Amino acid sequence: MPTYAADYAASLADPAGFWAGQAARLSWLHDPPRPVLSQDEATGFYRWFRGGRLNTSWLCLDYHVANGRAQQPALHYDSPVTNVRRSYTYAELLDLTARLAGGLRAQGVEQGDRVIIYMPNMPEAVVAMLACARLGAVHSVVFGGFAPPELAVRIDDAQPRAIICASAGMEIDRPIPYLPLVQQALALATHRPACVVVSQRDFCPAELPAEAPAAAATTLEKTETRFVDYQELLAAAPVEAVPVDGTAPLYILYTSGTTGRPKGVVREHGGHAVALRYSMGAVFGLKPGETIFSGSDIGWAVGHSYIVYGPLLLGATTVLFEGKPVRTPDAGTFWRLCADYGVNVLFTAPTAIRAIRKEDPAGQLARRYDLSQLRHLFLAGERCDPATYDWAGELLGVPVVDHWWQTESGWPMLASCVGYADAPPPRAGSAGHPVPGYNLQILDEEGQPVPAGTTGLVALRLPLPPGCLPTLWHDDARFQAAYLDQFPGYYLSGDGGYRDEAGYCYIMGRVDDVINVAGHRLSTGELEEIVAAHPAVAECAVLGLHDELRGQVPVGLVVLKDGAVLPETALEQQLVQLVREQVGAVACFRQAAVVARLPKTRSGKILRKTLRLLADGEEFAVPSTIDDPAILAEIRAVLLRRGIGVGATPPPGPTLAQSATSSGRGGA
Ligand code: COA
Ligand code: AMP
Repeated sequence: MPTYAADYAASLADPAGFWAGQAARLSWLHDPPRPVLSQDEATGFYRWFRGGRLNTSWLCLDYHVANGRAQQPALHYDSPVTNVRRSYTYAELLDLTARLAGGLRAQGVEQGDRVIIYMPNMPEAVVAMLACARLGAVHSVVFGGFAPPELAVRIDDAQPRAIICASAGMEIDRPIPYLPLVQQALALATHRPACVVVSQRDFCPAELPAEAPAAAATTLEKTETRFVDYQELLAAAPVEAVPVDGTAPLYILYTSGTTGRPKGVVREHGGHAVALRYSMGAVFGLKPGETIFSGSDIGWAVGHSYIVYGPLLLGATTVLFEGKPVRTPDAGTFWRLCADYGVNVLFTAPTAIRAIRKEDPAGQLARRYDLSQLRHLFLAGERCDPATYDWAGELLGVPVVDHWWQTESGWPMLASCVGYADAPPPRAGSAGHPVPGYNLQILDEEGQPVPAGTTGLVALRLPLPPGCLPTLWHDDARFQAAYLDQFPGYYLSGDGGYRDEAGYCYIMGRVDDVINVAGHRLSTGELEEIVAAHPAVAECAVLGLHDELRGQVPVGLVVLKDGAVLPETALEQQLVQLVREQVGAVACFRQAAVVARLPKTRSGKILRKTLRLLADGEEFAVPSTIDDPAILAEIRAVLLRRGIGVGATPPPGPTLAQSATSSGRGGA
């Protein structure tokens, strides 16, 4: 039996050797990968498994059907919001996938083409992902909660040949028609896909238009877009999986950066399959034939890796849940799912547990269900506060594993790897130890490793293991600048944290303008661009403030233009509406306050970090570079009047130490 200690050491000492061993556990369709690890000549970026030929869809489906799992459930779909439950065996999922792939090919989708998928958690979405993978086409799933402008940006960046959407999604209290959102996005976008495939939902069918709406004024010529029914595509003859190179892109997943332009994280077939297959056993301790329920959305990295690809690569059963942890219909939903499907591993965000705890603090609903199959609760997506961690552990009586990763990595970087008997056990507040493959270092501002107990920038020594992003979609320069330039030889995660004497690592939060709202990653820079575009706003700061339920929520502080006479409440409503229209309701931007001025450094940088600490009622040092410290007391008074943030500590007075560093944009 391999040990964590031995595998961790081997993965750092000889990455190519270690991952060649893991790759050998997969069936490569033709040649085994050679070389296992290489570097691109032009960029120097590392690439895994070039020359190997495989197909992820084949590994997820055909392989298992041919190896005794044809009649095993691959996916349980459970949707309390639409009152539908249905299970799919591996054979059924393969059949649907192969036929949809045939239908997509008939619409002109071929290897290398991009396909945007804009759908909620429904089986047709999983089939769409697998069908794209089968053809060697590159899917890009866009979270259904994003508004048309966000979708339009992704359409223009990915340039898809097809968009696959649902006619509607279902929120707790209302259907959300998706097709009009796609049409609005197409009207905003420059690129025009050849077809839009619509999966009809009984509760809210869509009338398919004859052609796309008139495009926004553009100099680029647009072709017509056909609208076709998903069911029609399923009438096609099934097609075989197309073997692709290990470095061929499987998907693009856009995530928030520090600007309004999202980053297109690329995932490749070879590294992704090897890493996820490994993680299922090593990190999650799951065996083929067992069941995992990831309470997330297929629009996020967790959904890609641990609702869809990881479980299917392993030959496990996945639970696809369309609903929320609460109010669909109650805070016992997750426990009901665990009991009904014999879930062995439950994965969700701490926010979901906080929401359940708020509605059922004594955990009475959990006691109604048989949770005897559950072995572990995994939590990620945001920092897990010890109170939530302890509550869940006591309630469920199983180890709770807080673990850390990002869209960029695609699989856990820090965890207690429960698949190894010698792995250090989980501990409240810590996201665990580095997972084999990740040479994690905590660095100071000069890029030097800091001693245990000292907080610094969380970085990973290159090469990153398989499965992590090799680059950003069509933007090597941005990949280099955003992640690699600051400290040569390292990937910079954007998080701050520390490691204690025992080797446990603690992730304390972002050091950039990214915030985490209910486990969803958002850019305050993007929100500021939207708020600043309001005609009455002279300048603004959007801060991620502490929130009991969602971890953080964005709040705007705005300075009005001279002569603007809008009442504060009217302005707030308009700004809230603007963000809903531009980003989506999921941003949870619900408060904005008018202030007379914003604190700045003498060189004109807004002191956002100071503002956030002030609003959260945390202690802080007044930056020595501030132009006028009196502004802080003024702003605190506004926050108190508006009931925004904690705002309960006294304003910083002259007794507080003057900080030597500015905490303007980008400051840690
Ligand atoms: N399509 C359209 N709208 C959506 C949406 C979607 N897919 N997802 C969310 N929204 C809307 C909601 O309807 C809500 O709109 P409202 O402001 O009009 O009420 C808004 O976006 C905020 O949504 P949400 O944060 O989901 O709020 P909620 O009150 O409905 O639920 C939680 C709160 C905590 C239960 C929920 O955020 C949750 O389940 N969080 C876990 C997150 C998670 O799994 N993250 C993935 C990383 S692991
Ligand atoms: P995303 O790319 O949306 O998955 O968000 C990744 C970010 O979420 C990370 O950079 C962290 O800031 C945060 N995050 C994820 N998991 C954890 C965790 N276990 N503890 C603390 N922060 C986390």
